[in-house]
This record gives sequence, structure tokens and C-alpha cells, in this order.
Amino acid sequence: MAKQTIKDLNLKGRKCLIRVDFNVPQGKDGSISDDRRIKAALPTIKYALDNGAAVILVSHLGRPTGDPATDGPYKLDPIAARLGEVLGKPVAKADDTVGADAQAKSAVMKPGDVLILENVRFNKGEKKGDPAFAKSLAGLADCYVNDAFGTCHRDEASMVAVPEQFAPADRAIGFLVGKELDILEKLLGHPAKPMIAMMGGSKVSDKIGVITNLLPKIDALLVGGAMTYTFLKAQGHTTGGSRVEGDKLDLALQILEAAGDKLKLPLDHLVSRSLDPSSETMIVEGSDIPDGWIGIDIGPKTIAAYGEAVRNAGTVIWNGPMGKFEDEPFRKGTAGMAAAMAESTGITVVGGGETAEAAELFGVAEKVSHVSTGGGAFLESLEGKVFNSLNVIPEKA
Ligand code: 3PG
Repeated sequence: MAKQTIKDLNLKGRKCLIRVDFNVPQGKDGSISDDRRIKAALPTIKYALDNGAAVILVSHLGRPTGDPATDGPYKLDPIAARLGEVLGKPVAKADDTVGADAQAKSAVMKPGDVLILENVRFNKGEKKGDPAFAKSLAGLADCYVNDAFGTCHRDEASMVAVPEQFAPADRAIGFLVGKELDILEKLLGHPAKPMIAMMGGSKVSDKIGVITNLLPKIDALLVGGAMTYTFLKAQGHTTGGSRVEGDKLDLALQILEAAGDKLKLPLDHLVSRSLDPSSETMIVEGSDIPDGWIGIDIGPKTIAAYGEAVRNAGTVIWNGPMGKFEDEPFRKGTAGMAAAMAESTGITVVGGGETAEAAELFGVAEKVSHVSTGGGAFLESLEGKVFNSLNVIPEKA
């Protein structure tokens, strides 16, 4: 069964509230460092406008507390400006979400107009899923579209209580959410074989749900990143000064046992004297990291072996960098895996904020099958979780 989409809605002459996820990475000066999430919502926004709607956009940015004294950096003005640029038309901005300004600006909207409301998390009712707040927000529009895939794992008001205020025929998902759900269905349904999951990042504990759900479906789990050293420590190897989750060794052992031969650990490592990119480095073969050294990236033999597996796979899911890729001397592993993803003839899916950043940095974002806009939402989907935000959108009639 497929969800009702924006194409099933009556849009002509109506105001359409679109929940987007414009929670974009920002530089220290507040500038937008990656506008992928803004661009990813354009097809839905344009479709609504082309079909006679006025569009009211609602999003969060960061995790503000609702205190005007500290919330300044989380205002959506830079987002509104960037959206206007990429959309190629003026975008009005309200200085509140459901207050006098939002009400006045939404009241005068005509078909083809676009209004973005102030950061929805400035309202305490958002986090709490408060019905009164939801009613005020829903009251600004005639229909609702969820195109905020990155936020689908949250039960906040704009994701669940707001759509519940609309008649079922006036609730739908947008094209971005539709595309992400299609990809997930392919990954979790009948993926092309061999299917490989490549997991990196620092914490085994963050990935346990995903690993458990994927193990029966995958042919190999390629492990990289700092979580390697929790597995190696659990096996009794020395890990030097590498990052280890000391309280997760039992968990790591359980995963090793459950995964058996499917779980592959690096054959060699780039080790460094410290996290400083100018420190002395060397390659260590095998599974023991000497005292005084930190495992910081996968080594050349691992890059070759993992790369070959990725290039020959029918399906690859990649979540988590292979090393500390933000520093040039420590990025060969992550760059090598990005290149292998681009060269693979299989379905290649990149998920998670940091991994998506790596795909951009190494120029492969357009060369893989899909880069998910979800971080936590992507991982929780792979864990097999079902989201309330999607349960409230009816199936197609
Ligand atoms: C994300 O970036 O993962 C989403 O925008 C959700 O943000 P949150 O983790 O602050 O709820």
C-alpha cells in the first residue's frame, strides 16, 4: 500500500502547509554550509505552486529552547533568503509561527505565494505535541503535506498533531518523503544481491538496532571508523589510545557472535600519535594497535578489500565514515569508499548526516543511487521502526 501523496490533494485556490526539514548545517557565522535539504524540497513546493496553491512552509532549525534571549541564531531568515534564491521567486517570512505576524501574512496569501514561518521549535508546544498549538498552526492552512523526511522519527506537533487536525483527504506526503520511502522499501524488501552494509562512525551503541535488523538480509557488514576498536578490544586485541566504548564490549561481543563471518573488520589501520592532523602516522597490519598510537582510519589493504566488495555488490548501504575524514591526512579510507560507491554498478545508498557530507566532499553525491536527507530518521527506518508522523498520513484510496 502506498501513502496518499501531494498529487492526491485538492490544491487549487487553497493554502497548503508543507512541513519541510530545513535543519541545515551552518557555519560559525550562521551561513548555510550545505543547502541539500532546501533543494530536496523544491519539487514538492513547485508542484503545489504550479497546481494553484499558496504554500506555507514550516520547519525547525537546530534545537532552540524557546527563550528569545538565546534563540536568535536559530531564526529562519537566512533559510528564507536561500530558498528565495533556489526557488527563483520571493519568499515572505513571518517573525512568528502562529502569532499575529504569521496570521496576518497567511491571511492575505494568493495562489503562487510562498510564506515561511519562524522556527517551529521556538514554540514550547512543538516538542510537547500540544494540541492547542497544533490547532493554531493547522488553522493557517487548508491542507497538509509532510516532506520533512529528516524529522519523520520525531513525534513533535508539526509532524503528528498538526496533520491530525486536517481531514484525512487533506493530508499527504511530498515527493521527497515518497522517494526516501521507496528507497527504504527496496533496501528492506528484496534488495539486489550481494547486499553489503558498510558502517563506520564512533559508536557501536548507535548502530546496534540497524545491525540487528539488517543482519539477516545482508551478505557482509564492513566495519570501519572508531567503532572498529570497540570490536577489537572485545576480541581481546590491544587498541592503544584508540577510542573504545568500554561499557559496550559485551554488546560488541554479542554482535560479533550473531554476525559470524558476515562481519568484516579492517585488515590494517592508519594510526596516529594524536588526533592532531600534523602528528606522526604509520600503517599497522593486523588487529593490534600498539601503545602510544590511535587508530584513525582504515589502511590501504582494507581500502582495496572493502572497495572491491562495494564495487561488486548488488546493493550497498553506507552509514558512517571510515576515519576522521574532516582532516586531510586521515581521509583516504572514507574517500576510497566514496569512490568505490560511485564506481559500483549496484544500488548505492548513502545515509546519515556525516556520511552525506563525506559524499559531497568527495564529489560522489550525484554518482550514487541515493543520498538520504535523513540522519536519525534514516537509521531508525533501517532499524525497522514505524513512525507516527507517517501513520497519520492515509494510504491511497
Ligand atoms: C535531523 O537533522 O536529524 C533532523 O532535522 C531532526 O533534528 P533533531 O535531531 O534536532 O530532532
